Amino acid sequence: MAKVIVTGANGQVGRELQVLAGHFPEFQFHFTSRFNLDITDEQAVQHFFNQHPADYCINAAAYTAVDRAEEEPEAAERTNALAPRYLAEACAQQNIPMLHFSTDYVYHNDVNRPLLESDETCPAGVYARTKLAGEQAALEAHSKTMILRTSWVYSVFGHNFVKTMLRLGRERDRLTVVYDQIGSPTHARSLARAAIAILQQYEQGAVPREQQHGIYNYSNEGVCSWYDFALAIFEMSGIDCEVAPILSKDFPTPAARPSYSVMDKSKFKAAFGLNIPHWRDDLKAMMTTLRSHEAAASSRE
Ligand SMILES: NC(=O)c1ccc[n+]([C@@H]2O[C@H](COP(=O)([O-])OP(=O)(O)OC[C@H]3O[C@@H](n4cnc5c(N)ncnc54)[C@H](OP(=O)(O)O)[C@@H]3O)[C@@H](O)[C@H]2O)c1
Repeated sequence: MAKVIVTGANGQVGRELQVLAGHFPEFQFHFTSRFNLDITDEQAVQHFFNQHPADYCINAAAYTAVDRAEEEPEAAERTNALAPRYLAEACAQQNIPMLHFSTDYVYHNDVNRPLLESDETCPAGVYARTKLAGEQAALEAHSKTMILRTSWVYSVFGHNFVKTMLRLGRERDRLTVVYDQIGSPTHARSLARAAIAILQQYEQGAVPREQQHGIYNYSNEGVCSWYDFALAIFEMSGIDCEVAPILSKDFPTPAARPSYSVMDKSKFKAAFGLNIPHWRDDLKAMMTTLRSHEAAASSRE
């Protein structure tokens, strides 16, 4: 059985990996959180990997508070920029592949067409800059570092736009949401499934050397603005809340967001031959799971 170390297992992607793990008996997952593996502690990382030899590592840990990062640049730097190097070095020592996640925010260029991995990066805030630095460090440290750049991640677990909209939509009659930022939502479950599918391909010897090192865009299929996304959330949940479109300049945030961050996923699809669900289908699936979680919680009360 192939052993997989997962860091940041209590985050959105980490929790979804935990949900999926049971469906993949060919893998033995070792889920870790900051409590037993703080990825910013270089010695702890080395020690952990020596104590727990594995066949793969998925780094789902990150400092993801995009706005707070502007006030805590050192913390973001440690987790997003330095720690990926520690993990990549530990993986290099064991000669095992590392899967790492990054963000559409690293692009932030003015290209108004779906973004390619080879496009110029132009990160605007602390989060985006530290994530880019982490990518570069991990790629430099290890010839088997694979990076999935993703966007607008949500899940039944943790905090995210979908859950915020559902909460606010139940509390208020009217909300304003920006409509001049265009991208693609990503259900963390599909991202987690894609990560496991890549490991399966590794197990089958189907990931050639040249594909083992590099960057791949991964989001759900389809494109929308945050406004469209909010409308779909209310439509699918049956919540009656008016949504008014506003411009980003009327909703200032400490960290700037890219206005266009749709990613071209041709490289991912050509390399792994995997189907990617459309964001509306994945949103529906997430809502169904959320309803069953809510029903289970209320029956326990
Ligand atoms: N969320 C998005 O919209 C989005 C968009 C694009 C890309 N991404 C990328 O996708 C990946 C997964 O994101 P996500 O949404 O699953 O993030 P998340 O829900 O914020 O989870 C990140 C996890 O990392 C843990 N962590 C933070 N510092 C750590 C440390 N020093 N040692 C060990 N664990 C630590 C966090 O633990 P605590 O909760 O205890 O801090 C949390 O459980 C990240 O690389 C992120 O940058 C996310």
